[in-house]
Amino acid sequence: MAGLLGLAACGGGNQTPSGTQATGAAGGDSKKQVEVFSWWTGPGEADGLKAMREIFEKQNTQFTFFDAAVAGGSGDKAKALLKTKLDGNQPPDTFQGHAGAELQGYIKDGKLEALNSLYDELKLKDVFPAQLIEQISVDGQIYSVPVNIHRSNVLWFNPAILKEAGLAGAPKSIDEFIAALEKVKATGKIPLSIGSEWTVAHLLENVMLGSMGTDAYNALFKPGGNWAGPEVTTALQKFAKIMEYAGDPQDDWQPAAKQVADGQAAFNIMGDWAYGYFHNPPDGGLGKASKTDFDWAPSPGTEGTYMWLSDSFTLPKGAKNRDGALAWLKVAASKEGQDAFNPKKGSIPARKDADTSLYTDYLADALKDWGSNKLAGSIQHGVSVSQPHLAAIGEAVGLFMGTKDVAGLQKALDDAAKANIQ
Ligand code: GAL
Repeated sequence: MAGLLGLAACGGGNQTPSGTQATGAAGGDSKKQVEVFSWWTGPGEADGLKAMREIFEKQNTQFTFFDAAVAGGSGDKAKALLKTKLDGNQPPDTFQGHAGAELQGYIKDGKLEALNSLYDELKLKDVFPAQLIEQISVDGQIYSVPVNIHRSNVLWFNPAILKEAGLAGAPKSIDEFIAALEKVKATGKIPLSIGSEWTVAHLLENVMLGSMGTDAYNALFKPGGNWAGPEVTTALQKFAKIMEYAGDPQDDWQPAAKQVADGQAAFNIMGDWAYGYFHNPPDGGLGKASKTDFDWAPSPGTEGTYMWLSDSFTLPKGAKNRDGALAWLKVAASKEGQDAFNPKKGSIPARKDADTSLYTDYLADALKDWGSNKLAGSIQHGVSVSQPHLAAIGEAVGLFMGTKDVAGLQKALDDAAKANIQ
């Protein structure tokens, strides 16, 4: 793995070399920095962070916000650097972690402080869904502040290309999806856009959910979950077929999503952070027109299910500026913070008491579905599998992209599950 400084933070704002932050900057500024670690540097994502940062800065003039974001969608690069920092006892003051198995790993490794007193002080148990609190707790201790709920299972599409291909609407099943991809191919447009390797693992979780159904998908992550069975085989065969229609891999999720909004590609399966990117004004997003330049539907075969994930912020043990981190967590927990962050981020608030009038267009659909759908946990974004398990899945998907060997992929996924699910 690259050394601590090899993967230098590259977010916007007031950077200093990692690990050197303390009181005072060169200009005699005596404010204490709060190092906030995330991977929200790119178009769309950075807008949400900026909105929350502005509130933090207004409310906490004694602190300086230090943006330690590390570029790279889904945080693969950020999480590698974070591990080095945590292992070297040089934690950021607060970092972004996914609720569920990913966060449970940091808790079990003893890296986080419990936040029960903050929860009591701010009465947070009343405002977050009980099921969500369960995902960030061990033995009654609560270890993070969830700032949002994202949806993984969204099919983004270009309405004009669908029309050109003779398609009446978004495909509702995996088989309909494959037929639609074939029709788009005949138009000469890219049927399905993809980004870097993690976006293919993201596609895989969606095809598995859509092919297997919610109960069978959820059962995979319970002890004894059967990754070697025929339902997984069928899902992987369909995944392999779908991948035949994929365009050239783009650098990350944004350029792949952009191919849809620009009228080059018909479909992209991506989380709803893509909505922030499509919709936000051109200084951060693409400023595209919803329903005209882009449209959405649940990914094929998953209607009625919300494949969820949640970004949450933590208090690492040994944070240099613990008070500053707590001040950040208070903003992240607040109604004001969540209602500033989420409409820009393309997510809905984790809090139950948000101002629903702020969530319009795609986000109104998301709020409605979150309140009524069945739930499934995202693989790629930390809910259902631990970090080591996800790394093994990522490796299996990467190999498959070269070999196209479905049986080999299933064996590797089965081995990964056996090694990681107790
Ligand atoms: C997810 C994260 C989202 C979004 C996405 C793309 O893992 O939870 O907030 O940033 O990656 O980078």
